[in-house]
Parts: sequence; structure tokens; C-alpha cells
Amino acid sequence: GRTEERLIDIVNGWIAREAPLLPILNEVQASFGYMPENAAAVIGRELNLSRAEVHGVISFYHDFRKEPAGRHVLKVCRAEACQSVGGREMAEHLKRLLGLDWHETAADGSVTLEPVYCLGLCACAPAAMLDGEMIGRIDEQVAAEIVREVRT
Ligand code: FES
Repeated sequence: GRTEERLIDIVNGWIAREAPLLPILNEVQASFGYMPENAAAVIGRELNLSRAEVHGVISFYHDFRKEPAGRHVLKVCRAEACQSVGGREMAEHLKRLLGLDWHETAADGSVTLEPVYCLGLCACAPAAMLDGEMIGRIDEQVAAEIVREVRT
């Protein structure tokens, strides 16, 4: 079908290069906004890799999604420096406020919640990134603002 044709087009754009798998996956994600269900099968077939090999690479990189993302993407840091200053509790608090677990998208498509492992903002922990913008020193008030912003 259409999806398969688009996938094959993308593969063909990279197939002559060295180590084409990752650039192909990046372009698929950029082009579709997520990894279509048959991506691992089609790409594997075209590159002579097993579906499991392609799938392994897709699951290794947390940025590849299985479904389209919400209008907003909130990435909350779960690495050491953030966890040591209340990041774990803050993450739970945000999950509760949003009614989402990691990697979930709100039913209204407003926001996707994702974990991230250090944003380089350790000095301002706990930290998160909303639509590519860094947010540091998240307390309850900042958390409430984040939730308000993603709901609009
Ligand atoms: Fe969270 Fe570095 S550990 S920003």
C-alpha cells in the first residue's frame, strides 16, 4: 500500500550508503511522525536484515515512536542528578496531573509524555523539556504551569 511505497522510497534514498539503517529510521520518523507498524518488516526486507534486527534498533532509541505524538511533547528527566533532588516525585506528580504514563499520549492528542536521561540541565534540576524548550527547577507551581500550557 501507500505506506509501504513511502517506506521503500526512503530506503532507496539511503541504500547505497554505508550503515543506512539509522538514517533511514530517522527519515521514516521525520516523514511519518512515527514508526508505522510495518516499518521493521519492510525496511528489513529491503536491507536484507531480519525484522528482529530492525526492531531491536528501533526499540533501542527512545525517540522512535509507535504512534503519532501529541501536539505537545513533554520530556521529563529521569537521570541521577534530577532524581537526587526530587525528580522522581516530580515525575510522579506530573504523571498524575496529566493522567499519563511514560510514552503515552493524551486521548485528546494534546500531549505525549516521555522520559529522558539527562538534558544537561543538572544544575537546575529537576528538569524537563517541553516542545524543545528547557524547563528547570520544577516545583509544584511550575508543574501546574506545564500542565496548563499543554492543555491549551
Ligand atoms: Fe536531569 Fe541532568 S540529570 S538534567
